Formats: sequence, C-alpha cells, structure tokens
Amino acid sequence: MWNDPGSAAEEGGAMGASVRSVQHDLYGVVGRPARHSLSPAMMQAAFAVLGMHACYLALEAEALAEALDALDRVGFRGLSVTVPFKQDAFALACRVDASARSIGAVNTLRRTASGWEGRNTDWLGAVRALERIVPLRGASALVIGAGGAARGVVYGLMERGAHVLIVNRTEQRARDLAAAFGCAWAPLSDLPSVGPKVVVHTTSAGMSGNPYDFAIPEGFFTAEMVVMDIVYAPLETPLLRRAKAAGSRVVDGLEMLLHQGIEQLAWWLNRPAPEAAMRHALRRAAARAQGGVSHG
Ligand SMILES: NC(=O)c1ccc[n+]([C@@H]2O[C@H](COP(=O)([O-])OP(=O)(O)OC[C@H]3O[C@@H](n4cnc5c(N)ncnc54)[C@H](OP(=O)(O)O)[C@@H]3O)[C@@H](O)[C@H]2O)c1
Repeated sequence: MWNDPGSAAEEGGAMGASVRSVQHDLYGVVGRPARHSLSPAMMQAAFAVLGMHACYLALEAEALAEALDALDRVGFRGLSVTVPFKQDAFALACRVDASARSIGAVNTLRRTASGWEGRNTDWLGAVRALERIVPLRGASALVIGAGGAARGVVYGLMERGAHVLIVNRTEQRARDLAAAFGCAWAPLSDLPSVGPKVVVHTTSAGMSGNPYDFAIPEGFFTAEMVVMDIVYAPLETPLLRRAKAAGSRVVDGLEMLLHQGIEQLAWWLNRPAPEAAMRHALRRAAARAQGGVSHG
C-alpha cells in the first residue's frame, strides 16, 4: 500500500529510521475504493471547529490486515472502515462491542495498546437520522434489501423497538436476515398490502447504472410515512422523489452517513462532535461530487 517505515528500520533501509507523525493526530477511512469518500471533508471540518491538529485521509488498501499493521506503526489513532472491509475489521479487531457482534461487521476502529478495538456506528447512524423525525418504538418499519447495510439497519430498528418487515429481491436473503434478528419477511409481491409507518430502502439500486429490480406499487407512499433511502449518490433517488411527491417525510442517505460519522468521532475523541459543521461540510462535498459515486 505504501512504504512501511517500520520494516525499513528493521531491515536497515536507506532511511535507517522509522517515520512518525509528530504534529498531527492521524485518522482515515480505509476501503477499496476510498478516493471518492465524503468522510474526509466531514471529519476535517470537525477537526477545524474543535481546533485540533488532526488529519483524516482516504486510504485505499488491498488487504485490511496489512493495512492495519502499517497504520498502527505510523501512529493512526482511529479509522473508518468501508466496503469491502467491514467483516474483515470485525474479525481483526482485538475487542468489539455487543452491537458489532450482533451485526457481524465493524465500521470504526480505535487504536489501543492491545490492538484495534472495533465498533459499529452504521446502525446508530440510521436510527439517529430517523429518530429526529419519527419515534421508532412500536412503529411498523419496512426494510427493503437484505445486504450488509440492511443488517445494521434491521438491528437498529429492532433495538429501538420497531416492528420490522424485510423484503428483498432474493427472497432467501430476506428470510435469513429475518431469522437472524427475529423479525418478519415477505415476498416483494406482497408490498401492496403493507402499509408501514417507516420505510428504509437499503439496496444499492437507484444509483446511476443500477435500476430497481422491483416495483413500488402506485399509491404505496402516503403522507403518513417517513421514508429513508440510504443511497446518497444521487442525493434525491427516484424512490425518494416518489415518496416526496406523495407527501411522505423523507430522509436522504447523507443523514445516515453524517450520524455514523458523529458517533465515530465522539468515540475516538471522547467528546461531542460538532454536528452542524459536519453536516455543512458533508452536504457541500456531496454537491461538489455532483452525482459522482461516493462511498462512506
Ligand atoms: N448512507 C450510508 O451511510 C450508507 C452506509 C452503508 C451503505 N450505504 C449504501 O447502501 C447500499 C447497499 O450497500 P450494502 O453494503 O448493503 O450492499 P450489499 O451487501 O451488496 O447488498 C446489496 C443489496 O441490494 C440489493 N440489490 C442490488 N441491486 C439491486 C437492484 N438492481 N434491484 C433490487 N435490489 C438490488 C441486493 O439484493 P439481492 O440480495 O437480491 O442481491 C441486496 O439486498 C449501497 O448503495 C451503499 O452505498 C449507505
């Protein structure tokens, strides 16, 4: 991934010494790809408001295990983990919290004396974004999709006491996810008879080049619903546009990204994160990306 200062020192390399960062605290997002991530803009804005000499970098890696060794030696303090490494991060963390264990994925790492400690803040990002608008306890919630992101969303909704129904293009995955968390599932063809309070779309459909392989029936969205799409490129997905036109209250995918980032930062720094500055920077970076594909 990059030159490894630790091994250069051990092997008596040309520099003859390891390289350490002495002026800035280092953080970053590690993934493949990572270069289009919106997180550096959001985190760097937070550091500026907090008056910290800290730097948050986008880091692309071939393999997470090697990357973590190298980042540990360089002195990185905290990492966001994105596609395709969230399950690897779970396996490699020296300790994980109960939520990450239930979800089976880690999106946040903190360096400790005994190794990288892991957490999952994706689920919190999803529920915090929704809770601002609608109480989740006792609410009927439809989750469309049964992939990695859906796992966190379903966990979060169940944790908050919602009644969750999952639908997915591949029925077996919906069935498996429902069994894992003790909630209900249904075939996509049953959508017309479902009238939930909350809808969360978690598939990767709706991004350019990936049209929906399912149809939301006419009249499905209502003014009583809260509809969140976790896709944020584009910001207003075709699904959100339809929900908005029907009068539903809508939440876009940047709110989930924002709140999972707020939780990451607060955990790394052990202090509250500056929400307004982070939201502003995130929305400005997304607008700059202008429909380009971005990953958290
Ligand atoms: N806002 C945020 O903070 C945030 C966080 C995490 C992820 N995300 C976004 O969430 C999306 C899903 O990520 P993931 O990690 O869950 O992916 P994943 O594990 O690959 O799962 C993909 C899901 O999308 C479904 N799907 C894909 N293409 C489809 C299509 N054309 N029509 C219908 N269903 C389709 C899959 O259905 P099958 O099971 O039938 O294949 C599966 O349920 C991505 O767009 C990602 O960027 C956003």
